Amino acid sequence: MARRWKPKAAKGALILAGAWIVTGCMTTQQMAPPVSDVMSGIGLAPGITGQSLEQGRQIYLSQCGKCHSIEPVNRYSDRRWKEIMEEMAAESRLGDHQKTDVLAYILTARRFMEMTEDRESKPAIVEE
Ligand code: HEC
Repeated sequence: MARRWKPKAAKGALILAGAWIVTGCMTTQQMAPPVSDVMSGIGLAPGITGQSLEQGRQIYLSQCGKCHSIEPVNRYSDRRWKEIMEEMAAESRLGDHQKTDVLAYILTARRFMEMTEDRESKPAIVEE
């Protein structure tokens, strides 16, 4: 006898597939939003300019996806990112200046995403 079609199980599988697509198909823009005037205006710390944020983003995109894929900047808390950058700047052999720019970009972009409440790119869990 042929196996009966089980709608409940099929629905569960669809939901799982959907969850995978949401995280699996995030665009670069969603993971690391481009530097805009609004983002530059956040001014988390003195000396962070639009240019240093742009520099930080470029390094993030070009250097931080070499060994693993880049992560959405809002996936981790500020505190976690500071710890992560200590380790990953060494992995990437970044200079002090580059490390500062990348961290400034990540923390500013996180704040930007909070402000603009881009729910689609917001992960369900922020890892502390
Ligand atoms: C030479 C390879 C390499 C490069 C380049 C690299 N990483 Fe990593 N990264 C790793 C490895 C290996 C791990 C997992 C082990 C670990 O946490 O040390 C990791 C883990 C991570 C994690 C997960 C940490 C966690 O707690 O789960 C993040 C986020 C991350 N890297 C960000 C970055 C950023 C940002 C850069 C660019 C500055 C970068 N990585 C460049 C090798 C690399």
